[in-house]
Amino acid sequence: MHTVHPDGDEGIRQTDSDAALARLSAVQKSYISDPFVRYLLPRGAHLQPPRPPLINVGTYVRSEGIDQLVNGWLELSAKEGRQCQIVSLGAGSDTRFWRIAAGPRAGTLAKYIEVDFAENTTKKAMAIRKSKDLSALLGKAEDVKLESGGTSLHSPRYHLLAADLRLSPNESLAPIMTKSLPGSDPLLSSDLPTLLIFECVLVYMSPEASESLIQWFVDYFSTSSSGVLGGLVYEMFGLHDSFGKVMLNNLKARNVLLPGVEPYPDLASLPERFTRHGFTTSYAFTLRDLRRVCISKSELERISRLEMLDEIEELELVLQHYAITWGVRLNNPEAHDLWKGWGFIHT
Ligand SMILES: C[S@@+](CC[C@H](N)C(=O)[O-])C[C@H]1O[C@@H](n2cnc3c(N)ncnc32)[C@H](O)[C@@H]1O
Repeated sequence: MHTVHPDGDEGIRQTDSDAALARLSAVQKSYISDPFVRYLLPRGAHLQPPRPPLINVGTYVRSEGIDQLVNGWLELSAKEGRQCQIVSLGAGSDTRFWRIAAGPRAGTLAKYIEVDFAENTTKKAMAIRKSKDLSALLGKAEDVKLESGGTSLHSPRYHLLAADLRLSPNESLAPIMTKSLPGSDPLLSSDLPTLLIFECVLVYMSPEASESLIQWFVDYFSTSSSGVLGGLVYEMFGLHDSFGKVMLNNLKARNVLLPGVEPYPDLASLPERFTRHGFTTSYAFTLRDLRRVCISKSELERISRLEMLDEIEELELVLQHYAITWGVRLNNPEAHDLWKGWGFIHT
C-alpha cells in the first residue's frame, strides 16, 4: 500500500479550480468553445480576472492536442464499427464527456468513467444535478443515481466515482470498477477499446503509485476480447532547469509537490511511461511542437488575432515544459493494425 498524506491533499484538489478557471478564461477570450464549463466552476469564478495571453494560448494548445487524440480514438472505434470506453483519472471539473455527448461521435461512446477524490466528485455530482444542460445529456432522470453518500453518480453512459489513486488499485479501483454483482457486468467493460486519460494528475503521485495504476489497467485488459488499451498523459516534465525550479517552488508554497516528474527529465524519457508496461506504441510531443506542427495555419492566425502576445520565446519556453504522451497496447497487434496509427494529425 502507498503512503497517503491526508493533510496535504487540499492543495492537490485545488489544482482543479486552477484548471477550470484557465479553461473559463480561454473560453471567454474565444480561444476555445465549451458551453459546459460554466456549470462546473468553483465559487467566485466570475470575480476572477482572465488569465494572461500566454496562459490562454497554452490552454488552447493543450485542449486542442487532447481533443485531437480523443477524437482520433472515437474515429478509429467507429471505423472498426465498435463502440469504445473512456476512463478519465483525476478528471476534476473536466467537461469532455458532455462535449462528446453533444457532438457528432456521441454514438461511438459506450461508457465514460471519471475518478477523483471524494471531495471533488461530491461537488461535481451536485453541480451536475443542478444543471439542466448537464443532466439532459446523461439520459432520463430516473436512470441517473447518486450513490455512496453522494460521492458517486451513475447514469447509463456516464459514471463519476470517488477514489484516491495513490492507493493500491486492488483496494481503491477494483471494488468500484471491476467487481460485479450477480447478474450484472462490471462497470469497467473489458471488451471495449478503452482509452485512459491522465490529464495533469500523475505528476502529483509517486512514480510507483502511477506505475501500479497503469499496470492494473494493463492486467485487466491483457486477456480482453477487445484487445485495445490506449493511454494519454498530459503534464509538465523536465523541471530541472530554472523555469522548472520556479514552478516547483511556487507550487510548494501552496503545499503541492510534484513527485511524478522525477523519472522524466527530458522528452525522450516520456514514452517509457507506457513502453515499460508493454505498450505497442508510445510517443510524446511537447506543447511547443504541437503548436508548431499540429495546429493549422488558419487556427494559428485566428488565435494570434485574439490577444497581443509579444514574447514568442517566452511562450515557447513555457510550452516546452508540458507534453502529451500517448500510446496503445494491442493484445494482438496484427489483428488491430489500424490502432497503431492513433496519433496527431500533422498539418
Ligand atoms: C490539475 S487538476 C486536473 C483536472 C482535469 N483532469 C483537467 O485537466 O482539467 C488535477 C486533478 O487530479 C485530482 N487528483 C490528484 N491526485 C489524485 C489522487 N491521488 N486521487 C484522485 N484524484 C487525484 C485532483 O483532485 C484534481 O481534480
